[in-house]
Amino acid sequence: MDVLIAGLLAYLLGSISFSYVITKKVKKIDIRQHGSGNAGATNTLRVLGKGPAIVVLALDSLKGVIAVWFGFWSESMFMGTGLALFEGYPGWAPAISGLLAIFGHNWPIYYRFRGGKGVATTAGVIGALIFFPAIYIGIVAILTVAITRFVSLGSLIFAITTPFLVLLTLDHYGHPWPYFYLACVVGGMSLWRHRTNIKRLIQGNESKLGQKD
Ligand code: G3P
Repeated sequence: MDVLIAGLLAYLLGSISFSYVITKKVKKIDIRQHGSGNAGATNTLRVLGKGPAIVVLALDSLKGVIAVWFGFWSESMFMGTGLALFEGYPGWAPAISGLLAIFGHNWPIYYRFRGGKGVATTAGVIGALIFFPAIYIGIVAILTVAITRFVSLGSLIFAITTPFLVLLTLDHYGHPWPYFYLACVVGGMSLWRHRTNIKRLIQGNESKLGQKD
């Protein structure tokens, strides 16, 4: 019950694409037809500029934080009642809820399953679950973007290093194993969603931060 309710709420919340909503409201256009075609904060920066991009980044991240909270809430409601799906195994409900919010962002039910790459929502989910390792990886990713001006490269570094850092710090912070499994799945999903960026990075024609496509 816990995972089903929290997971459904998380998917429905994750499916709200703030870049889509804000560009539609401000410019009456579909962001997926402009710039890189991605429904995310980086493309909002290209299409609408800094202010709206920061708002999208914050709201897309917040979705991840709230989804994890749904998971913790459902765990505390159902664990011990016999209705929890992973009775006696804490960590599954918040991890699966976080995953489903990212899934919703990437494949949103409201917009014909064409969404974004899930980076901001992933940052919210990982930050809510494992604050300290997430901060370290976040700093490395931000430095990468600042130095190279490639947001996609920073996102990829975040996706690849998160599972390793979660694994290395699992005991230290007393985090449950589902957090590591989540980091692996989310990392793989992020690599898949960035496959065209990876191609462009290799070919040397990836657009830099703020550059219009
Ligand atoms: O968050 C997505 C970012 O890593 C790349 O976005 O629009 O350049 O494909 P974009």
